[in-house]
Amino acid sequence: MTKIEMNYMPKSNQSKEIMDRKIEHLKIPLEYDVQHSKNYFNDIKLIHHPLPDVDFEDVDLSTNFFGKKVSAPICISAITGGHPVSKEINKVLAKAAEEEDIIMSVGSQRAGIEDPNLLDSFEITRKVAPDIPIIGNIGIGQISALNFEVEDFNKCIEMINADVMAIHLNILHELVQDKGDISYKLFRKNFQNLRELYKIPIIAKEVGTGFNQDLALILDKLGFDGYDIGGTGGTSFAAIESKRDNFDNQKYTRNPAEVFREWGIPTPLSIIYVRNVSQKLIIATGGLKTGIDIAKSIVLGADYGGFAYKFLQSAWKDRKTGSISYTVKEIRTLKNELRSSLWLMNIYNVNELKGKRDKFVILGELYQWLHQ
Ligand SMILES: Cc1cc2nc3c(=O)[nH]c(=O)nc-3n(C[C@H](O)[C@H](O)[C@H](O)COP(=O)(O)O)c2cc1C
Repeated sequence: MTKIEMNYMPKSNQSKEIMDRKIEHLKIPLEYDVQHSKNYFNDIKLIHHPLPDVDFEDVDLSTNFFGKKVSAPICISAITGGHPVSKEINKVLAKAAEEEDIIMSVGSQRAGIEDPNLLDSFEITRKVAPDIPIIGNIGIGQISALNFEVEDFNKCIEMINADVMAIHLNILHELVQDKGDISYKLFRKNFQNLRELYKIPIIAKEVGTGFNQDLALILDKLGFDGYDIGGTGGTSFAAIESKRDNFDNQKYTRNPAEVFREWGIPTPLSIIYVRNVSQKLIIATGGLKTGIDIAKSIVLGADYGGFAYKFLQSAWKDRKTGSISYTVKEIRTLKNELRSSLWLMNIYNVNELKGKRDKFVILGELYQWLHQ
């Protein structure tokens, strides 16, 4: 893996471990293939309509995100924070999101809570993007910890003046990484304390292994305001961990991170499962590659499409040239593809597309998943 120089001394060994992990998480997806082998969006076909009623330019992509208007249902998914390089990446992403008026998420804010010197890698987002909705991010592991303090949640909100907070459920990732959190018994109790204290919308987020129906029912009852269903088909966190060289071969014959790299529920299926039982907001993340995939997500019942890997790639390029041009171009490309998909189906705004059963067919393996 290419080396990146650090001109910052971490506060403690624990901070150093987190920082090393942060930089590896950024570089591994760029240098190795850590994508799931099957992308289930390919099993969905949208139905063409050859006579549009409105002009192409009049197709309206704008929508609302918890009361804030955005230009399109596109979200830059949680990627990073907690390292000087993360600050550069977050700056590019937030500036581009502000310019294009879309939603932006920061990565896990744990590092910012534990080491105040790393706060700026998160704070930069709000500094350069005063107007757009920004989603904060904290892990189920932190919320479930014995020493969890609600004040830490407050710190996350204040760090970026968050509009919404996401709690990520990354249990496979924790299971296959060295010293991961594998006890969540206190989650419900600690979350209920939070829920009573904070009015801010809180969403639950998966990171690439998807949602089932039971989970949506449980989280609806607990008082979550929405879901980023983070399904299988895109970046595999188990695959990322398998490249991190922390497998204990004294203990096991096979690396669990390698064995479990394909584990999870496909993104389109996760959307259907959650929409079957919940009316809450849904962000579809996990393997979306183009604006057509946003349209496919919305027709299945999602409200927004989220992208992590794609924006990691564009921001990495921009970081090197000190501009935001690749990232802005990527957002414009996604918008153009989404607008084109709608127009080609004779749909003139994104709300019109939501859950429209006669606009898609499901084929192949995804059909089998659905009808087992
Ligand atoms: C480098 C990298 C870092 C990530 N860090 C976080 C994180 O801190 N918190 C989180 O909720 N998700 C995180 N994710 C997961 C993404 O937000 C997303 O759910 C997942 O990568 C699937 O989307 P994709 O296929 O577009 O990459 C990360 C993803 C990548 C690629």
